[in-house]
Amino acid sequence: MVVRTIPVEDFDLVIFGATGDLARRKILPGLYRRYLAGQMPAEARIIGAARSEHSDQDFREEVRAAIYEFANGVDKDQIDAFLGQLHYVAIDAKGTGGWEQLKKLIRKDVVRAFYFSVAPSLFGDLAKRLSDYGIADTESRIVVEKPFGRDLESARALNATLAQHFEERQIYRIDHYLGKETVQNLMAVRFANILFEPLWNAQFIDHVQITVAETVGVGGRGGYYDNSGAMRDMVQNHLMQLLCLTAMEPPYHFDPDAVRDEKLKVIRALEPVAEGDIVRGQYQASGDAPGYLEDAENPDSRTESYVALKVRISNWRWQGTPFYMRTGKKMRARTSEIVITFKEPPHSIFDESGTQRANQLVIKLQPDEGMDLTVMIKEPGPGGMRLMQVPLDMSFADTFGPDGAEMPDAYERLIMDVIRGNQTLFMRGDEVEAAWAWADPIIEAWEQSKAQPEPYDAGSSGPEEALRLMHRDNRRWKEIRA
Ligand code: BG6
Repeated sequence: MVVRTIPVEDFDLVIFGATGDLARRKILPGLYRRYLAGQMPAEARIIGAARSEHSDQDFREEVRAAIYEFANGVDKDQIDAFLGQLHYVAIDAKGTGGWEQLKKLIRKDVVRAFYFSVAPSLFGDLAKRLSDYGIADTESRIVVEKPFGRDLESARALNATLAQHFEERQIYRIDHYLGKETVQNLMAVRFANILFEPLWNAQFIDHVQITVAETVGVGGRGGYYDNSGAMRDMVQNHLMQLLCLTAMEPPYHFDPDAVRDEKLKVIRALEPVAEGDIVRGQYQASGDAPGYLEDAENPDSRTESYVALKVRISNWRWQGTPFYMRTGKKMRARTSEIVITFKEPPHSIFDESGTQRANQLVIKLQPDEGMDLTVMIKEPGPGGMRLMQVPLDMSFADTFGPDGAEMPDAYERLIMDVIRGNQTLFMRGDEVEAAWAWADPIIEAWEQSKAQPEPYDAGSSGPEEALRLMHRDNRRWKEIRA
């Protein structure tokens, strides 16, 4: 099955921070891949903007190198044509340098989008200059990266700053987890099938597990990470979005505000998390692998590189069904999945004691995207009525075959959505604020306590305490496996 690609309208996309890490790793290689897929029109232009002076040609050569390093395959015949669509302007975000030049360069009759791949402290300066110089108009779009604040107060301040120059319908707050294929498939599975939705509630679901385990540590970005920790870096945004899509009510239509209204209701229904329902961990050296303190270059750090927590949603659908979430760095394997564990049948007619009988739906985000539904069947053979659990496995790569298997990276999809003007997969300002309002007391409680994070070995499944969080409820985490 071949994946269809529909070209987007002609556009000028300005990337502020075009020489930074995110632009090199994700944004520019992602655009190149969309170009190869035929989605980026031949007239469209990408304008890199950053502080340093570069000619267009220098910038193109830098982007060429980034594409070779990160684009996962290069078409030598087409790369020059793509690079020819790139331009560069040296810009002073806090001053006047470069803005007139940018104004001259930008076209008025195409979609205009401005990607703020810079520190949040510059968002206000950029937004102001874009409107003061008349570079952006009421139809232009701005894209802002996380972290969107570090607490409710700073997120509110950022929202207020952006709102001075842009309307909410023009602001695209990125959470790249929303661009992942399976995350959107979660909505398709839930709301385009009759099979699951009738069972999708506390009556039939015992509990939900959301795991985002990474093998990388924080080496190289310890400065940022040490000030942030897993709660701010992963839970408040990525895991929260996964929770929302799993738990939300069906929106009346697949429309940006309808979807975001439903997600917001979930966040607002979250109960405060008691200190006894949260475990924070920090990886320690194991074998040759350095520990967190060394990676973060802060021997006294109490910052958590791992969090596990039990979350309750206070509404009719989920009363009595806990959501357990965990995320950590330097774990045994890179795996992100949502596991829905259904309740066991109320009565078994089979004589099977000790068999795990609950159906599980495993929604796999990475590394291999797909879904597994475990069902009970009879063990084949003449040995009587013995039951076993088997997975009904749907791997997207297998289903879509070699032509369609290469799913666009989250950033590719999201940038194309910006050009199309579709905000469904972007966070609305009130959503971000609600997520901070929930996370703030958890973070504050930790910052005020004197407790130390639970140690776990680099390359393990996380701290022992996190296992106990489940065991005391007679449940178990799904094993983290490579
Ligand atoms: C980022 C976090 O938002 O997401 C990183 O800041 C994390 O710490 C990354 O490593 C994980 O993204 P992915 O797509 O690799 O799961």
